[in-house]
Amino acid sequence: MRPIESRIDPGSSAFATNRDAYQALVETLRAREQEGIHGGPGRARSIERHHSRGKIMVRDRIDCVIDEGTPFLELSSLAGFEQYDGVPPGAGIVTGVGLVHDVPYMFIANDATVKGGSLLPMSIKKHVRAQEIAEHNGLGTIYLVDSGGAFLPLQDEIFPDKDHFGGSFYRQARMSAMGLPQLSVVLGGCTAGGAYVPALSDEVIMVDGIGRIYLGGPPIVKAALGEIVEPDDLGGAVLHTRTSGVSDYIASTEREAYGRLRELCLATNQRRMSDAPGWLDCAKPEPPAFDPAELYGIVSADDRIPFDAREIIARVVDGSNFSAFKPEWGESIVCGYARIWGHLVGVIANNGIIFSDSALKATHFIELCEQRRVPLLFLQNTSGYMVGRDSEAAGIAKHGAKMVAAVANATVPKYTVHIGGSYGAGNYGMCGRGFNPRFLFAWPNSRIATMSAETAQTVLVDIRLAGMKGAETTEEQVEALRREVADQYETHSDPYYATSRLWDDGLIDPVHTRDALGLCLSLAARQDEPSRGPGLVYRM
Ligand code: COA
Repeated sequence: MRPIESRIDPGSSAFATNRDAYQALVETLRAREQEGIHGGPGRARSIERHHSRGKIMVRDRIDCVIDEGTPFLELSSLAGFEQYDGVPPGAGIVTGVGLVHDVPYMFIANDATVKGGSLLPMSIKKHVRAQEIAEHNGLGTIYLVDSGGAFLPLQDEIFPDKDHFGGSFYRQARMSAMGLPQLSVVLGGCTAGGAYVPALSDEVIMVDGIGRIYLGGPPIVKAALGEIVEPDDLGGAVLHTRTSGVSDYIASTEREAYGRLRELCLATNQRRMSDAPGWLDCAKPEPPAFDPAELYGIVSADDRIPFDAREIIARVVDGSNFSAFKPEWGESIVCGYARIWGHLVGVIANNGIIFSDSALKATHFIELCEQRRVPLLFLQNTSGYMVGRDSEAAGIAKHGAKMVAAVANATVPKYTVHIGGSYGAGNYGMCGRGFNPRFLFAWPNSRIATMSAETAQTVLVDIRLAGMKGAETTEEQVEALRREVADQYETHSDPYYATSRLWDDGLIDPVHTRDALGLCLSLAARQDEPSRGPGLVYRM
């Protein structure tokens, strides 16, 4: 591999302008993440009440379980952002990957200080997505349960459909059968459907005095049977550990429960990170030769000004070394081999619009990586495939489809980062959400939509005017229409709008990209080699 030569001048005024603008984006990201941890109306009161019951905050709970000094890759920390009145970002649930005795586990932990830990539509989407990631990456799941169950005012958006509550139990039961441990610690309410999270777990620990499991809580029992019963007598840790057998272990404090959980993890017989079977070529890691913090100065503050994907790659990959594939052909896509934290990876990055030749080059490269069993990393920054008469005549639809088909059929692990625009079918060919990348992260400058707000206002306004069939319209009316369309597109393509709806697995600060991807690749390296797909059929 060769070192990438950078053309960036960190002393230039353009660099300083970009850097200042990006630092403001990162500050907004941090402020919104903090809001998820501590903020929200009435949250201080809920947190105080939580502490007064001797309970530990949700992220501190995870810290008590994972190996000391190891990272936790938190996912979708801004799920639900600005979607529910009075609910801070995060949707009342924390998910992410952490290590216990060097074995990676998915954590799914309710935050009882947000609406009693009850599950909003985006909370259940986050819960199910965490399970999907666990399944794809061969991870056991640890559930730290402290939840009021379905958020009842929105039960129609949580309960009945595929991948709603039922889907989460379906996945839990199936992952257990696959040999992926499902372990629960009960730290609060598990009412009605919520009771099935521990009940379907392989092993359950309940904390005395705070953990409760029941299909119907005291108010329901009173209404249905006229029985008046105390919560602990109906579903407390003593009842369930010593009488019903719903729980397997009782702990008198949360900390004791986490010690017991770590002990249970010693006997799950899962492959450690350090026992990777070796199908994925791994060398000694080295940091990039260029400072990743320079990414802030490279990404253009004005999204109409392009930036060079090679400059991004140089600040993400080991030693800034890159072996470019077909560097002199199809130049609007950069393809090549690199290493991230030592792991070999095939990188595909946009340098603008995708033309027929770049689509064919990417297809060829995806095929090679598939044959050689090299994971794929897509760095998305494209306005899509080239349109226009010449392009259509040259068969862009056919060539784009080859790339889309190659991505869909690649069985090697795939990872996607939205580093800029993700527009139109470019989103598909570059392994957008619909193409099942194992992880998909986005930068806070990214945009995702069928087309940019600028293009949309022309297209949609023309369509609407055509629909008016020549009716008189003033210039002010056309301008108002244009503004309405542009505003809607700007709102809907905003990265916070996207991450709030889990179109990604989280917004990340660009300087953390390398570490996040390194952990994701290590998870794949720990699994057996994925079995090969059926082979590709091209429409030539
Ligand atoms: N749906 C909607 N909101 C819920 C909820 C649910 N299932 N469970 C709790 N909440 C809300 C409460 O309305 C309250 O909202 P507020 O902060 O706006 O006032 C907040 O969560 C805290 O609830 P509260 O009861 O004050 O907290 P608590 O710590 O004393 O008790 C629970 C927590 C979860 C044990 C208790 O709220 C409870 O039993 N909830 C209902 C559980 C249930 O029957 N679920 C059925 C699921 S199908």
